[in-house]
Amino acid sequence: MQMSPVTFNNTVLRDGHQSLAATRMRTEQMLPALPLLDDLHFGALETWGGATIDAGLRFLGEFPFDRLDALKKGTPKTPHMMLLRGQNIVQYANFPDDVVETFVLTAAKHGMDIFRIFDALNDTRNIATAVKATKKAGKHAQGVICYTSSPVHTIDKFIETAVEIEELGCDSICVKDMAGLIPPYIAYQIITGIKKRVKIPVILHTHETAGLGASTYYAGIEAGVDAIDTSIVPFANGTGQPDTVRMLSLLENHPRKPEYSKEDLEKLQALREHFTKVYAELSQFTSVANERVDTDALTYQVPGGMLSNFRNQLKEQKMEDRFDEVFAEIPYVRKCLGWIPLVTPTSQIVGVQAMLNVKFGRWKNFSPQAMQIALGYYGRTPGPVDPEVRKIAAEKSGKEPIECRPADLLEPRMPKLREELAAKGMPTDDEHCVIYAMFPQELEKYYMAKQAPKEAPAPAPAAASSAPAARPAAAAPAAPADGSRRRARDLLLTINGQTTRVHVEELD
Ligand code: CO
Repeated sequence: MQMSPVTFNNTVLRDGHQSLAATRMRTEQMLPALPLLDDLHFGALETWGGATIDAGLRFLGEFPFDRLDALKKGTPKTPHMMLLRGQNIVQYANFPDDVVETFVLTAAKHGMDIFRIFDALNDTRNIATAVKATKKAGKHAQGVICYTSSPVHTIDKFIETAVEIEELGCDSICVKDMAGLIPPYIAYQIITGIKKRVKIPVILHTHETAGLGASTYYAGIEAGVDAIDTSIVPFANGTGQPDTVRMLSLLENHPRKPEYSKEDLEKLQALREHFTKVYAELSQFTSVANERVDTDALTYQVPGGMLSNFRNQLKEQKMEDRFDEVFAEIPYVRKCLGWIPLVTPTSQIVGVQAMLNVKFGRWKNFSPQAMQIALGYYGRTPGPVDPEVRKIAAEKSGKEPIECRPADLLEPRMPKLREELAAKGMPTDDEHCVIYAMFPQELEKYYMAKQAPKEAPAPAPAAASSAPAARPAAAAPAAPADGSRRRARDLLLTINGQTTRVHVEELD
């Protein structure tokens, strides 16, 4: 067995508050913790990416690169890590290669060190451009395997994906269990198998949602995993990562326990005190439902946050009596769509389609995103798409199925983005271009508010009216007013002239 100490990464500044406080922690609430965080020899600090870019810009009025600069300045000793959704960057749709590359190079220029890159379908072609850009920038590329359970997701399949990731030129591999569904011994088998086949370090990422997280880490450590992700209470446990102190206690006398001095433990205690204050300040976005262990996620084999959001959504649709039916439909939809993992954005797409199937009959209302998955526009699915479902999708959408890497169909966009920003009188640097590519309305609103801070906020530009009929129209920010305080939003889906409001959550 590997005897070197396991490395702890810390996620409190990204996944910690994304999972437990709807991604609402402000930079100024992070700053006082930085000297302590930088002094605890964490392998990496996850500080950026995932939902933090969108939420920071949309709800907190923060320009994403300004946060990165501030955090980098405050923690110069520890490598910074970000979560990148491959070709989706930090959005839901595929972006052209030139935008992905510019995003990575620009983040690297602002001090990002480790790019943790995933694709919702585990299609490694969708992470290749980001990996290449990371290497070009001289930074660390970490390829991700999204964990899910399905008949096609065998231990061997995960190991094969790990080999592909190493062959892509990645510097490390992360086994990412975004929903906290991986049982300890399965983690043990996956990690053992990967360690036998690849030379690069392996990191395990999970959540405590269903109460398996800490045991899963223990099993991963026994299997020789090189690093795990922990957080700081109260932005830990529950739907977040296991707490650092808790993991240290769990490893007492274990040959791989990392060294933490008495002073280190005092620093961890001081961090806990700081973040307890911040947690109280964010009470509007925190919830008991996220703090407790919920085994329903295991029963239904779907992410915990998806469950609570759907209970509310079904209520709104006056379908609460059909909860069991909708949840029984989820594995069917997954099967028809090639057993895709449930992570942003596929968790939303599958959930919505299951609801539409129950409400209107199977595939009678086929959401545009689900049709795109069926036709290959998100990438290669882990299992084959049901041929009948693919046929329906082709007929309804008028699109041909594709086999190629989806981004191969996209034209370069950087020159166009610069032109658009110039026409609006906004800055045309790479930073603004890549953020504008993903969040045009939010960036414009932010910019106008910054230009005229004393004036009333400008009205949101009308964009929904010009959108094609079968697309998510308005993406109104929804303050989560329900039991689940995860980051969520409402989408208006107009399908065959019928509009349905759906509540979706961000999960990564
Ligand atoms: Co996570």
